Amino acid sequence: MLSEEIYLAVENVTRRFGAFTAVEAVSFQARRGEFLCILGPSGCGKTTLLRMIAGLEGLDAGRVCIEGRDVSRLPVSKRNVGIVFQSYALFPNLTARQNIGYGLQSRGWPRDRIQQRVDELLDLVGLRGLGRQHPSRLSGGQQQRVALARALAVSPDLLLLDEPLSALDARVRAMLRVEIRQLQQRLGVTTIMVTHDQDEALTMADRILVIDGGRLVQEGTPRQIYDQPGTPFVARFIGAMNFIGDVCKVSEGIYRLGGTHLTVAPENGSRRLAAGTPVTIAIRPEDVILMPGAGAANVIDTRVVRMEYRGFQFRIDLKAPGTGAEVMLTADVPSEKVRRLNIREQMGLAVQLPMDRLRVYAGSGH
Ligand SMILES: Nc1ncnc2c1ncn2[C@@H]1O[C@H](COP(=O)(O)OP(=O)(O)O)[C@@H](O)[C@H]1O
Ligand SMILES: [Mg+2]
Repeated sequence: MLSEEIYLAVENVTRRFGAFTAVEAVSFQARRGEFLCILGPSGCGKTTLLRMIAGLEGLDAGRVCIEGRDVSRLPVSKRNVGIVFQSYALFPNLTARQNIGYGLQSRGWPRDRIQQRVDELLDLVGLRGLGRQHPSRLSGGQQQRVALARALAVSPDLLLLDEPLSALDARVRAMLRVEIRQLQQRLGVTTIMVTHDQDEALTMADRILVIDGGRLVQEGTPRQIYDQPGTPFVARFIGAMNFIGDVCKVSEGIYRLGGTHLTVAPENGSRRLAAGTPVTIAIRPEDVILMPGAGAANVIDTRVVRMEYRGFQFRIDLKAPGTGAEVMLTADVPSEKVRRLNIREQMGLAVQLPMDRLRVYAGSGH
């Protein structure tokens, strides 16, 4: 990355509360206009990290740089950031217009310019005509639009969103996801959104930072994170994953599972591991191929133990005692395919674990 492309650089930031370390030596960079998602389970330190970037929380170590300048000691009012919280945090006694114009007023903008800017923002977030309403008269989605407009009012260089959609119902959430992303792209504002919702991160982010226990465990595009999860934690947290234990490395790309061998594409294997090392092999449920054609590699015989209907697909639990090991697998299969192949509970079923969809993790206890 060229340095002039980097808008935000977070370097080794650490935050402790007493003896507890909430954020530990986290480093990452954001390019101008990029949409980053900080993704992780509840309590992993996401909000603390975002608050440190905003200037709402002190740093015990490390620094935050904006356009190469260390802003670690600058208060939030000097950083030109817009912030949206999960809880809307609107002033209940002010109308939508007054909420949106609040920051402009405190910056001393003249009245008529504020009115004009507020009109623009109401249009921008699709709330034209609702400006005179108080927050209590607006739906959750509308309130969050007001909060977004308020954050954007001052034309921030950096937009920080802390779980802005998690209090909303599923339909509104899905709609606002798209709206926020389109708005962010239109404005080109560098944005960091915190979420514990993997779907949100996968659908909205240019890049995802996965946090666990205060540490950054992986960063990458949504496809990289989903297709090449760096650790079993990431694999399990984002999407579903089958883990096949009791596997042992034989040689490069060849792994022994009970009485059979599995071939793993070299780029997915673990080159650094010595032969004989116990490993876990992982595959996404949607990557398991039912009834593969003749000559396919990595085919194992299984029995269907349970089928769960999910409308567009079935989740199928399979048992594979034929391998000589206790292997349980879950396959997600489009309903149309289940019908066409006439898959039923208790039937025997050959499945293929395609070599390019397998991943190898050191250790057998995942
Ligand atoms: N002001 C504080 N004092 C003490 N502990 C805190 C404080 N703020 C956060 N924590 C703790 O730090 C951890 C991370 O919190 P937080 O950043 O809010 O996580 P997340 O947003 O990922 O759910 C939690 O264990 C939380 O209890
Ligand atoms: Mg939080």
